[in-house]
Amino acid sequence: MDDSFPHNIAQVAEWLHHADSVAVMTGAGVSAESGIATFRDAGGLWEGHRPEDVATPQAFQRDPTMVWRFYNARRSQLLQCQPNPAHYALAQLERDCANFCLITQNVDGLHRTAGSRNLIELHGDIWIDRCWDCNHAQRVDKVSAEPIPACPKCGGMMRPGVVWFGETLPPGAINDAQAAAARCEVMLVIGTSSMVQPAASLAMFAAQAGAKVVEINPQATPLTHSADLVIAEKAGTAMPAILEAIEES
Ligand code: OAD
Ligand code: ZN
Repeated sequence: MDDSFPHNIAQVAEWLHHADSVAVMTGAGVSAESGIATFRDAGGLWEGHRPEDVATPQAFQRDPTMVWRFYNARRSQLLQCQPNPAHYALAQLERDCANFCLITQNVDGLHRTAGSRNLIELHGDIWIDRCWDCNHAQRVDKVSAEPIPACPKCGGMMRPGVVWFGETLPPGAINDAQAAAARCEVMLVIGTSSMVQPAASLAMFAAQAGAKVVEINPQATPLTHSADLVIAEKAGTAMPAILEAIEES
């Protein structure tokens, strides 16, 4: 089998070109080339922190100031980051495709900034504040000066609008993601270690429903052996190359 980079790119481009419905699942790797640390790679976000110290409801109840310090540091970092060619290529793919859904585990908002519209943010959005007490939610665009932002409706503590370990996914998000996985003819799985459920199972769900599953990731993951095609490249290299190949076909 010819599994060279140009051959694989041409194959994915052909599948995408002929597909009426496309779904994409992204993880932290799609934002790596924007300068955002992934979770599990060396030097990753969890390396200096135990996830249960900063990303659980119990951690927030125990020490909300510490949790906000962590998320404010992330927000400050994100303000310095821009979408990369992979984000832009995915936004362009959506414009070229009749039925397109982008499912992301990322909370950084870069897909939206790049122009993606039909977007399911499975793990929430770091740029939302949500009240711990009354659930009031609001979009924010800067780092709060207060150690713990207060709810404008009830005065309660605001928390970041992300999904923490032990919490359920946003209502509707997983159903919409499963529906997109079930109806797609091609699913691209980009920059995720495929280790966190239920996100990781969506690719298997798509495969069982007959979709071609393509993994784009420089490292092997638990999904690699069952993918129809693997492009072992960085997302910022592979995605623009795929778009170019579609445009030439
Ligand atoms: P991980 O950090 O687990 O995995 C990142 C993946 O991206 C790895 O497989 C890398 O090989 C790959 N990667 C790195 N650079 C890349 C590049 N330039 N192009 C393509 N791939 C690249 O991140 P996720 O799989 O997103 O959940 O993690 C899933 C969830 O676990 C996160 O959403 C978060 C975390 O716990 C919550 O916070 C609820
Ligand atoms: Zn409130």
